[in-house]
Amino acid sequence: MARHLLVVYHTQSGTTSRMADAVIRGARSTAVDGVDVRVKSALEADADDLLWADGFILGSPENFGYMSGAMKYFLDRVFYACEDRVNGRPFALFVRAGNDGSGAISSMRRILQGLAVKEVQEPVLIAGVFDESRLGECEELGLTFAAGLEAGIF
Ligand SMILES: Cc1cc2nc3c(=O)[nH]c(=O)nc-3n(C[C@H](O)[C@H](O)[C@H](O)COP(=O)(O)O)c2cc1C
Repeated sequence: MARHLLVVYHTQSGTTSRMADAVIRGARSTAVDGVDVRVKSALEADADDLLWADGFILGSPENFGYMSGAMKYFLDRVFYACEDRVNGRPFALFVRAGNDGSGAISSMRRILQGLAVKEVQEPVLIAGVFDESRLGECEELGLTFAAGLEAGIF
């Protein structure tokens, strides 16, 4: 049976969505054929999406030293519905920031710790001037995550 990978992200001016596109491209690579990839914006994703997922990848810009409001709104809406129902599931993060990004990463990690999910790859953070060449790392994140899910490594 196919394993389920959920990608949830938010973007305002479009750069996080470029990272998301690369993550999704990697996750849907023909090298991995046993994983269904579902993509949702943080404003539309809900608890059913998270419960469906065997693993998930979240992407957010850093706004005011924190994850974006939309990503926080997603986590607010799913937290109690998913508490104790997703324990141990793997996740990874990608973040876009004007100059920092650490606040977005730590704020997402902190809430996800409360869901007892397990971070299985280092986040991809693109801070400062948007460096296209780093999109390869996003693609690799998606590919590695999907391959790990398929192989049952996580
Ligand atoms: C309201 C607002 C607050 C921001 N706060 C931060 C911040 O605290 N740290 C940072 O590194 N970048 C900050 N930025 C820059 C964004 O992270 C950056 O513009 C990013 O590219 C936005 O992602 P997007 O193109 O996907 O919307 C902020 C941008 C906005 C619009």
